[in-house]
Amino acid sequence: DRSWAEPYKIKMVEPVQMISREERERAIEEAGYNTFLLRSRDVYIDLLTDSGTSAMSDRQWAGMMMGDEAYAGSENFYHLEEAIQKYYGYEHIVPTHQGRGAEHMISQLMIDEGDFVPGNMYFTTTKLHQELAGGTFVDVIIDEAHDPENEHPFKANVDLNKLEDLIKEKGAEKIPYVSIATSVNMAGGQPISMDNLKKVRELTNKYDIPIIHDMTRVAENAYFIKQREEGYEDTPVKEIVREICSLTDGATMSAKKDALVNIGGFLALDDEELFKKAQNMVVVYEGLHTYGGMAGRDMEALAIGITESVDEDHIRARVGQVQYLGEKLIDMGVPVVRPIGSHGVFLNAKKILPHLSQDELPAQTLAAELYLDAGIRSMERGVVSAGRNPETGEHNYPDLELVRLTIPRRVYTQAHMDVVAESVEAVYQQREDITGLAFDYEPEYLRFFQSRFKKR
Ligand code: F0G
Repeated sequence: DRSWAEPYKIKMVEPVQMISREERERAIEEAGYNTFLLRSRDVYIDLLTDSGTSAMSDRQWAGMMMGDEAYAGSENFYHLEEAIQKYYGYEHIVPTHQGRGAEHMISQLMIDEGDFVPGNMYFTTTKLHQELAGGTFVDVIIDEAHDPENEHPFKANVDLNKLEDLIKEKGAEKIPYVSIATSVNMAGGQPISMDNLKKVRELTNKYDIPIIHDMTRVAENAYFIKQREEGYEDTPVKEIVREICSLTDGATMSAKKDALVNIGGFLALDDEELFKKAQNMVVVYEGLHTYGGMAGRDMEALAIGITESVDEDHIRARVGQVQYLGEKLIDMGVPVVRPIGSHGVFLNAKKILPHLSQDELPAQTLAAELYLDAGIRSMERGVVSAGRNPETGEHNYPDLELVRLTIPRRVYTQAHMDVVAESVEAVYQQREDITGLAFDYEPEYLRFFQSRFKKR
């Protein structure tokens, strides 16, 4: 096999620098050991998230100049609508400022007090909006997804027995929809198979329950289907994406990931009546139904980003770069979630810091240590992210206690990945000397964003 390289060359650069160890110590302490509270100027390589951090193409920047900043009926809205219909196949769209704007609307529109919303693992904002609407999220992902070392190729698959048992137990009328994410974030960027999705469709058809698709990373999931699922070896990623969408009734999209823009999102729906309600609701919370919180130029960049996101060379390089970092860490013996996911490499903090109990916040601790070593910013995805049980007020203790090294799209080079791997290895070597953290301040909602911690 010959080597291959990124399918682009760099036209504009943004300088970055590493501050000294002493300055990093001061910065992380001031940030309450929460990487979300660091200033980005104090970060050398920023792997906090792949959300809104990708590099736009020259075409997208050209599109920005074509912004039609009309309050109503902007030309760019129609371009966006066309791109969504063409590449995703959903009939109606309501633009939103980002993914959670769409999650808010679908939750308020479809969920009633006392409902249950099954899904293939929770996502922080998605679950919160379901709860705020009076629903209870129920995890119906296969058990393998909760085991970081299990090599199942489709760890985002739904356990059909869990789903059917829930429907029988609660009654179909208590289940407003099934929430299906592609490339499941909290499982480590793991895909759902087409075969499993088809079976979920059959089962939900039987009970007349819609499927709402969290399509934030749908192209990445489609790429894994092409790599791993029999019969799709030669199918273009574009077609796989369309097929996935066709098996669902609507979608929420954070366009800040797959679709290569810095801000934006939408709600897509096939049902006309529900669409009308969403169109009416968006004017209350986001903006008029032809911009929903985005500028005209943002919608144009998004329309172009959608076409680029399903390009074969792009998606191979994108997921390929994540695999490169993951393989390197595996070779170094660092415990990571297997198989390597689509948007990041997830360090298994429970296994790296076995001397810390989950109350000592192993993943939060590891993320802070990683920053201290070489200025690399990552994100906790463990007990802090999982929040509290709304009924009992107790911490939720997820099996997965992870640190996410999330790779922005088209931003960093292979040399950056090498530097990251070396830093993770250095921290791994010192793991036995690492002590835990405790909460110092905890806000009510989505606590991982703003909590502060102190050394134990
Ligand atoms: N769904 C998934 C799967 C996500 O990963 C995110 C955001 C959202 C919904 C919410 O979208 O941020 O545009 O409002 N994930 C980011 C992350 C924050 O870092 O993983 P949003």
